[in-house]
Amino acid sequence: MMARVLIAAELRQLLAEDPLPGHAVEWIPASELTPAGDFAAVVPILSRQFGNADFDTLPALRIVANCAVGYDNIDVDAARRHGVIVTNTPDVLTDATADLAWYLILAVARRAKEGEALIRTRAWTGWHPQQLLGLELRGATLGIVGAGRIGQAVGHRAVAFGMRIVYVDREERTAFEESTGARRVSLGGLLAQSDVVSLHVPATAETRGMVDEGWFARMRPGSFLINTARGDVVQESALVAALEGGRLGGAGLDVFPREPEVHPALVSHPRVVTLPHLGSATVATRRAMVGLAVRNVREVLAGRPPLTPVPGSA
Ligand code: GLV
Repeated sequence: MMARVLIAAELRQLLAEDPLPGHAVEWIPASELTPAGDFAAVVPILSRQFGNADFDTLPALRIVANCAVGYDNIDVDAARRHGVIVTNTPDVLTDATADLAWYLILAVARRAKEGEALIRTRAWTGWHPQQLLGLELRGATLGIVGAGRIGQAVGHRAVAFGMRIVYVDREERTAFEESTGARRVSLGGLLAQSDVVSLHVPATAETRGMVDEGWFARMRPGSFLINTARGDVVQESALVAALEGGRLGGAGLDVFPREPEVHPALVSHPRVVTLPHLGSATVATRRAMVGLAVRNVREVLAGRPPLTPVPGSA
C-alpha cells in the first residue's frame, strides 16, 4: 500500500530521484515543525526532536529512521508506547567519525590552531627550536570513554601512533584489547593516566553533564579532552573553567550542547579546536547513512523487520 513518508529536505541531494518507489515522499526542511498527518515513516536529521506529543499527532507512524547514529533527539520510550520503531545508522559512519576524532587529537596535541594563527596574523618570524612544542603521541596514553564501535575505531588508529590505550566501558572488550593492547580501567584510573581523553558515549540520562568540575580535577594537568560524541555530555562552564584555569592543555570539540551556538570562550581559546559537528561528514559516509535510513523505511513499510533498530525500540 502506498504510504506517505516525510524525509528531511536536507537529505534530498544525497538520495536518488525516487528514493522510495511506490510511496509518496514529502520533504521537510529543518526550519519547519513536524507536520501532523497520516505519515507512515519519517527520516529526520538530528536537529528534529520527537517526543510524546509528536507521536500523538502522527497516528499512522510506523518508523522514525533517524539519519544519525545518535538518537538522543528521539524519545524512544514514547515511540515504543506508540508502537513506532526507531532506527539509527550505526557502522556506516564509524570510520569517518574516528578519523575526525584523530584530526582533533593531532590538532590539539600539535597546537595547529596556534600555528595557523601565527601564519595568518603574519607574526611568524621563522623556524625556532622552542616554537609551539606539543605532545609527543608515541608513548603517551589515550583514554577512551565508551569503547563501542567509534571508540574502538579511535583506539585502533592509536596503535599506529604508538599510544598506550586505556578505556572505560560497561563491557570488557576482549577482541579490542587483544588487537590493540588496550586495558580496561576505572574512570578514575583513566583520568589519572590519560594524556588525551576521548569521549565516545551517547547522550543519555546517565551521561548528560558527566564531564564536570570533578572530572576535570581528576584529569592529568595539561591533558586534552576530545569530544566527537554529544555536546551535553560535557558541562560547558566546567570545561571553560578548566581551560581558563590552565588545568586542561586543550580541547578538540566537534559537538556542543546548544548547536549551532558555541561558547565564545571556546571559539577564541588558542588551544581549543572547534568544528561544526563534522564527524560523519564525508560524501561516502553521508550517502551510506541516508541509504541505510531509507532501507530501514523500505523494510518496515514492506512488513519486514528493520535493519538497525535502536536498543529499546518497538
Ligand atoms: C551524528 O552526530 C550522529 O549521531 O550520527
